[in-house]
Amino acid sequence: MASKQASKIAAIVLAAGKGTRMKSLLPKVMHAVAGRPMVLHVLDTVEAIGAERAVVVVGPGMDDVAKAVQPYETAVQAEQRGTADAVKAAKQALGDFRGTVFVLYGDTPLITPETLRHMLDARERAKPATSVVVLGFRPAVPGGYGRLVVDRAGALTRIVEAKDASPAELKIGLCNSGVMAVDGALLWELLDKVDNKNAKGEYYLTDIVGLASRRKLRCGVIEAPEEQLLGVNDRVDLAKAEAALQDRLRRAAMESGVTMTDPATVFLAADTRLGKDVVIGPNVVFGPGVTIGDNVEIRAFCHIEGAAVGPQAIVGPFARLRPGTVLERAAHIGNFVECKAALIGEGAKANHLTYVGDAEVGAGTNIGAGTITANYDGFFKHKTVIGAGASIGSNTVLVAPVRVGDGALVGASSTITRDVAPDAIAVTRAEQRELPGAAKRYREKKRAEKAKAKGG
Ligand code: UD1
Ligand code: MG
Repeated sequence: MASKQASKIAAIVLAAGKGTRMKSLLPKVMHAVAGRPMVLHVLDTVEAIGAERAVVVVGPGMDDVAKAVQPYETAVQAEQRGTADAVKAAKQALGDFRGTVFVLYGDTPLITPETLRHMLDARERAKPATSVVVLGFRPAVPGGYGRLVVDRAGALTRIVEAKDASPAELKIGLCNSGVMAVDGALLWELLDKVDNKNAKGEYYLTDIVGLASRRKLRCGVIEAPEEQLLGVNDRVDLAKAEAALQDRLRRAAMESGVTMTDPATVFLAADTRLGKDVVIGPNVVFGPGVTIGDNVEIRAFCHIEGAAVGPQAIVGPFARLRPGTVLERAAHIGNFVECKAALIGEGAKANHLTYVGDAEVGAGTNIGAGTITANYDGFFKHKTVIGAGASIGSNTVLVAPVRVGDGALVGASSTITRDVAPDAIAVTRAEQRELPGAAKRYREKKRAEKAKAKGG
């Protein structure tokens, strides 16, 4: 049986634009949607289709982009002279790459791997292969987008930029998204032929289509929904991209077995991993790095980031899990409880008004209401270790570093500064004194004083 040879894929992600309309010190592509910089969404998509190389084209001084995209390489476009010039910046890295080279934009984060796979199929299906496949779409308002000129046989013959288009061409509804899949063996020689004799005086990548079809090389179009091709130019677009991505992430979560009482109020990160039969109440926010096991219940108004929650755990309402939190099976974290760098053992509970930071809590231990691990001395963080089957009374302060042994019991309102041995009881509050009848005597005295004051 002949096996289909997997084709080689590389990607060039254009990100040299300054993004002035973002009004930001941060390069545009570093702005996040679903908790992840836009450019990394594009690279995730490229990775999902099995690209073996990717080069991000940045402007001078965009070192933070270069850092963020590692291990992918970056190439610097010295001056913004158009999209063809930008792609050329990647020539040193990909000049001898043989296979399909995708060109994508770093500010267009919603494109899916499925769409890129359709383009790849379209490029390789025909014999001889299609040289350039352009991703087209039919925007509600074609406005300034390049128009795709298709001949009667359905072949793409050229792309005309809106500023260079005739009135008849401007009526074309099929527009250029900017995304292309190009035969790597042809890309660089086509680019060398692109000039800047056009309305903008720029080197247009789009010109490679006309150049290829004049050489009788086949060019084609694949269409995608406009929603995937939203380009972010300002913060309003950023919010639109966020909303679209949230919608997609929520839908995927529900399709994989998660119940959401009010999905529109749940905010997920691109990397949120949710198990089966997870139930999420209203107004829950997930930051990056969260894994939730099967059958977990997350009640309303929780904020969770960098945390791993084991199966059958219950979190919230109104709980905050900060980075480094690990809840083991069936642990309960209740209202107004904050955990940070805390390991909460199997079946352990901290249900009310508590801070557990830099701590380990053993299996089955109960942390009473108002317990605080005092982990910071103003200079250093210290650890609190509580054993299994222990009980910490309400309103206790555990001054770290400190250890409470297995099965130990700490009396309510204690301030624990020394280690507590296993199975011991530790209590630090003052002894209770009782004065029989004193309250009654006090009231009578005061009433008499008041009566005297009024009468006099
Ligand atoms: C481009 C297309 C147009 C298409 C539209 C889709 C060309 C000539 N035109 O137009 O057909 O409809 O995108 O959004 O390609 N960039 C660089 N260096 C440059 C120029 C651009 O890195 O020198 C990057 C930008 O940061 C941006 C992307 O390339 O991410 C597109 O550039 P932009 O100037 O927005 O192109 P458009 O004029 O919108
Ligand atoms: Mg643009």
